[in-house]
Amino acid sequence: MGKSITRRSVLQTSMAASFLSTIPAVSFAADDVYKPAVPGRPVPPTNDFDKSSTAEQVTEGINLAGQVALVTGCNSGLGFETMRVLAMRGAHVIGAARNQEKAAAACAQIDGKTTPLVVELTDLPGIVTAANQVADMDVALDMLILNAGIMAVPDRRQANGVELQFAVNHLGHFLLANRLLAQVTAAKQGRVVVVSSAAHRWAPEEGIQFDNLDAAVGYDPFKAYGQSKVANGLFSRELARRLAATTATSNSLHPGVIKTNLGRYLPETEESDDEPRSFRYKSIPEGTATQCYVATNPELAKVTGYYFDNCNPVVPNAHMQDDALAAKLWQVSAELTADYLS
Ligand SMILES: NC(=O)c1ccc[n+]([C@@H]2O[C@H](COP(=O)([O-])OP(=O)(O)OC[C@H]3O[C@@H](n4cnc5c(N)ncnc54)[C@H](OP(=O)(O)O)[C@@H]3O)[C@@H](O)[C@H]2O)c1
Repeated sequence: MGKSITRRSVLQTSMAASFLSTIPAVSFAADDVYKPAVPGRPVPPTNDFDKSSTAEQVTEGINLAGQVALVTGCNSGLGFETMRVLAMRGAHVIGAARNQEKAAAACAQIDGKTTPLVVELTDLPGIVTAANQVADMDVALDMLILNAGIMAVPDRRQANGVELQFAVNHLGHFLLANRLLAQVTAAKQGRVVVVSSAAHRWAPEEGIQFDNLDAAVGYDPFKAYGQSKVANGLFSRELARRLAATTATSNSLHPGVIKTNLGRYLPETEESDDEPRSFRYKSIPEGTATQCYVATNPELAKVTGYYFDNCNPVVPNAHMQDDALAAKLWQVSAELTADYLS
């Protein structure tokens, strides 16, 4: 991989200090080298954006008039700001939330063209209904931003036979994206953007415990979140490979560490006692920058199968570059959603 993607850049953008005293530190045993998912594709350009760049700044001058985006988790945190900024740049944004009230209320707050859509990611028949509703809109999807998520659910819960974070963060998005791929590939240059996390490094040793997807053995809220975020990255990587013959791309990212409702399951802690002085949370506009950059920047038109942080490519850990693991995840996910996939 090019000089831009180094272990140092991973360390610089670490999540080690995130939600500090309540969550595990991230250990860095990163590969030094990025293994391209789709050989021959361009390396993402580096740029001067950094952790202080906001979504408005990284999309400045980009005209999205005539383009359509779908954003999951549009009613809160990074999803709401993503919808706001993409609509501000002229896109028609289909805002997906868990129920009609949330989706409609979020869309109503946006200046620009939005359409509310109900996507409850544990409801597989409901995802099919939502995808059919998008198909009925007769639009191509220029941007499919798989953003919704939950973190560190304290007790073991399940949906669709798997642990809840895997079900919401990965499996629901896997089904939604597959049901919408025709719309993505119908766009001139469709982009699937998967919001993963540096917390992919919290995953169990195996990366994904295929023999324990229901977390029947040894449930750990943070490992389960990490596993779901490895799944986000691997899904994006395998999708990039599968889309290689089309103009569509698939990339994943870490948004930074931002105080949002994602921390709803974390215990309350004193603010700064344990926080290194150098650590600063990103604001929501800053935390939304990378997904808006990856979704819109013209220089990324052919870039696919990469993982970004602070609007620049970085190297994820070895699990997120493991093509055999990615292929197995796709196969298992297809089996788990087989009744709804096509
Ligand atoms: N914040 C961070 O520091 C950070 C760091 C790394 C990665 N991320 C990732 O960034 C993404 C956005 O998180 P955020 O920080 O913006 O959190 P957030 O404010 O909690 O937003 C999460 C969104 O996901 C939705 N959601 C949760 N469960 C769902 C389900 N079953 N079906 C459909 N939607 C569901 C939520 O809906 P409700 O409001 O209805 O629950 C909400 O709209 C997540 O994928 C997260 O893993 C965040």
